[in-house]
Amino acid sequence: MNDLSVFDAIIRLIYLGAATCFVLGLHLMNTPATAKRGNRLSMLGMGAGVAAAGAYIVHAAEATLTAWTVLILGAAIGSGLGLTSARRVQMTAMPQLVSLFNAVGGGAAALIGVHDLLAHSGGVPVSIALPAMLDVVIGGVTFSGSLVASGKLQGLISGRPIVFPGARVVNAVLALVLLGVGAWVATGTAGTTGLVIEAVAALGFGVAMVLPIGGADMPVVISLLNACTGTAVAMAGFVIGNTVLIIAGALVGASGGILTKLMADAMNRSLTNIVIGGFGTGDGPGVLSATDGAPVRELAADDAAILLGYADKVIIVPGYGLAAAQAQHACRELAELLEERGAEVAYAIHPVAGRMPGHMNVLLAEANVPYGQMKEMEEINPEFPRTDVALVIGANDVTNPAARRSGNPVSGMPILDVDKARNIIVIKRSMGHGYAGIDNELYTDARTGMFFADAKAGLATLTAAVKAVTA
Ligand code: TAP
Repeated sequence: MNDLSVFDAIIRLIYLGAATCFVLGLHLMNTPATAKRGNRLSMLGMGAGVAAAGAYIVHAAEATLTAWTVLILGAAIGSGLGLTSARRVQMTAMPQLVSLFNAVGGGAAALIGVHDLLAHSGGVPVSIALPAMLDVVIGGVTFSGSLVASGKLQGLISGRPIVFPGARVVNAVLALVLLGVGAWVATGTAGTTGLVIEAVAALGFGVAMVLPIGGADMPVVISLLNACTGTAVAMAGFVIGNTVLIIAGALVGASGGILTKLMADAMNRSLTNIVIGGFGTGDGPGVLSATDGAPVRELAADDAAILLGYADKVIIVPGYGLAAAQAQHACRELAELLEERGAEVAYAIHPVAGRMPGHMNVLLAEANVPYGQMKEMEEINPEFPRTDVALVIGANDVTNPAARRSGNPVSGMPILDVDKARNIIVIKRSMGHGYAGIDNELYTDARTGMFFADAKAGLATLTAAVKAVTA
């Protein structure tokens, strides 16, 4: 075995170790209790993979001085920006950031494809042209689609579905161009002209795909784009012959795909509709409003405290408002007080509560809420009819009984059966809408008392009131 092959074997072993870290890391992310360890293990794997790739370049002396400068500067700027934005981002703005990261991943993968298609003068071998073409298509769609999604979530573009006349025709034409020109580019003979048409069509398709999606459906599309990023990265791995990139990309693609399916199911949305232009149910104007003119019962702190202080079983339903108010610690304090008084307390976690997958679990875990108390929707729903008080904190759409009827933006979305509890207390600041932009019939239910307050301040008031009324 010569020197290079020993070196090659070591590099491959490191790649194998990195891949093992990714798989084990993903497995550990199955439960919140081990998720942090899973994250660290995956980071270790990624660090080893990057170091091994760097060592490979040095050993093979493949890079010129310019390439080295670009590599080191790029890595430093990219890591610096990634690290600072991830550390500074508010939990509530996490989906926008994830979407931006998706855009960067997809864009980088597409550029690898573009480079390899341009680098081979006089025809590209099909073994390179095919994955490179897929890289340009998937990476391009992901890049532009993720930028639009991020802009919508950040409020830079309207969050409502943006539909223009003939949008479906435009989508269909772009899809046909992607397929037809894609087949040509994959033969390796299309040259720059074919590549430019393919890249422009991919970018256009990404924009056209995401613009018509609005309101409550956005989480699914972000998850779908995340899966696309992984697939594009895997294709980039094929193009440059890097196994660890193929494995990491395939894992992201597969897990993102599964998450997309789970979220689409949780929101009762069809994946086919996402890709071919908007969702079946829009959240445009003219939405029926079942609460128009219906009376709302406002609850005073003492009345709410009596209900809570003497309840045997309480289910807390956290939503986006809890995250926005950073009320997780105040929430745990109230829960602990109720438990000290002998109540059984559980947290009902809806799969799309908040603004990102796992949002509520992350927040509550940060406040040291025991994992065992966080119950998923299927597990907790049968408990509501036996519950004395359902305490809804800044949750709206995920509790809206209108979801059980057709003809509105949340139709078909499985909801938490809060309206089946004996008493319902809702903490929010006003009768304002949630993400889907419609009235919530729960708020006018005869068993519901509205406690209008910011979640954090309201919970502190309620905790003090429970202490006072039960002293
Ligand atoms: P939403 O339906 O968005 O409702 C949140 C409610 O919180 C609002 O009605 C608001 O009412 C209240 N609120 C805001 N700030 C508050 C504060 N400081 N204190 C108290 N209340 C406050 O939330 P949800 O029930 O969690 O549902 C999530 C929605 O977001 C779903 O439609 C889902 O599809 C969508 N979505 C989810 C994700 C993921 S992956 N989870 C990503 C993007 C979108 P007031 O203004 O009256 O206070």
